[in-house]
Amino acid sequence: MFKVKILGAGSIGNHLANASRHLGWVVHLYDKDEEALKRTRESIYPSRYGFFDEDIKLFAGTKSREVYDIIMVGTPPNSHIELAMEALLEKPKAILIEKPLTNLNNKNFEQFIKKINLTDTKIFIGYDHVVGDASNYLTKQLKSLNLEDLEFLDVEIKEHWQGIFNAHPWIKGPEDTYLGYYEQGGGACLEHSHGLNMWQHIALSVGAGKIKKVSAYMSFNKFNGLNYDKFCSVNIETENGLCGRLIQDVLTFPPSKKAILQSKRGSYEWYCNFNKDGDRIVVKENGKTVDKMFKKNRPDDFINELKHISYVIHNSKDQSPISINNGIETMKVIEAIFESDQKKKFVEVKY
Ligand SMILES: NC(=O)c1ccc[n+]([C@@H]2O[C@H](COP(=O)([O-])OP(=O)(O)OC[C@H]3O[C@@H](n4cnc5c(N)ncnc54)[C@H](O)[C@@H]3O)[C@@H](O)[C@H]2O)c1
Repeated sequence: MFKVKILGAGSIGNHLANASRHLGWVVHLYDKDEEALKRTRESIYPSRYGFFDEDIKLFAGTKSREVYDIIMVGTPPNSHIELAMEALLEKPKAILIEKPLTNLNNKNFEQFIKKINLTDTKIFIGYDHVVGDASNYLTKQLKSLNLEDLEFLDVEIKEHWQGIFNAHPWIKGPEDTYLGYYEQGGGACLEHSHGLNMWQHIALSVGAGKIKKVSAYMSFNKFNGLNYDKFCSVNIETENGLCGRLIQDVLTFPPSKKAILQSKRGSYEWYCNFNKDGDRIVVKENGKTVDKMFKKNRPDDFINELKHISYVIHNSKDQSPISINNGIETMKVIEAIFESDQKKKFVEVKY
């Protein structure tokens, strides 16, 4: 059993609190805004999970009152690095930082990378899709593929962000949060970077290596002070020559979240939230089709993620798809995507 500190009593903070309690962990939930704590107790938690769990202790502020095994940073992106660096000083067993790792051009990003190379704390990034049951199954199927058989990898996370606003009934629209400002970590490229992270995860799983260069087209909404990319489309090439495409938007309804890897032998397809029952994997290989559903609901996404983190804490040699190094690489590619859109040319990723 772990004792966990969760920073941020918003949408993700409540999910992580619920998942931690599901695993029998002691939960202390902190927020700098007392209103957020009140909302958690009176509205978010009971409306999502039926009742408020009185074993969750709520604290105003961010400074730890006790010693914790795991510290989870579930605040807006532009506070992640600063809070994670403070958390490192407490030497917990693990830190989970929500996605995206940070906002664009964060001045402390490089210093953070240096610091994490000196710590024994295991650090994770919250790209939970790549540790879901469907993704785990897909990754196993990909093991048999030869790099030379691969043709193209196409990933999309296209989702109108009304879904996000439905999970935040206390905000009116993107103007009320970081979501409406790409520099704070909002917009399609950063908020829906689960797509890019899945692209990288599949590429690494098939031995295609890191993303080497990108060519991006982004479309921005700029009005009433808002400034966010509503759409981003990226052509990608990896160091071992796999090519593909990524699309993320905050426009499409009903949403479409999928990854399709095309090989000479067939296709390998992941459909996130294919229907209300869960995710779907379709593998078409040498004329045969395997079509499998993986039952899950929204709370399961985070229960699975925390089970994975617990497993890695106890089995220290295992590499994790949500290790912070993968989160850093996703952030580096995001920086290259913005640079490419600005310069209107292919940009090499600066790892
Ligand atoms: N993995 C997922 O699927 C998933 C789902 C939802 C959100 N997220 C990520 O989680 C992060 C937070 O999103 P959210 O939707 O929960 O936001 P939110 O606005 O609902 O909640 C954020 C909370 O953090 C608090 N906060 C802000 N700065 C703080 C600080 N310095 N110290 C303590 N508390 C602070 C705010 O008062 C607010 O209550 C984002 O990075 C988002 O992308 C991930």
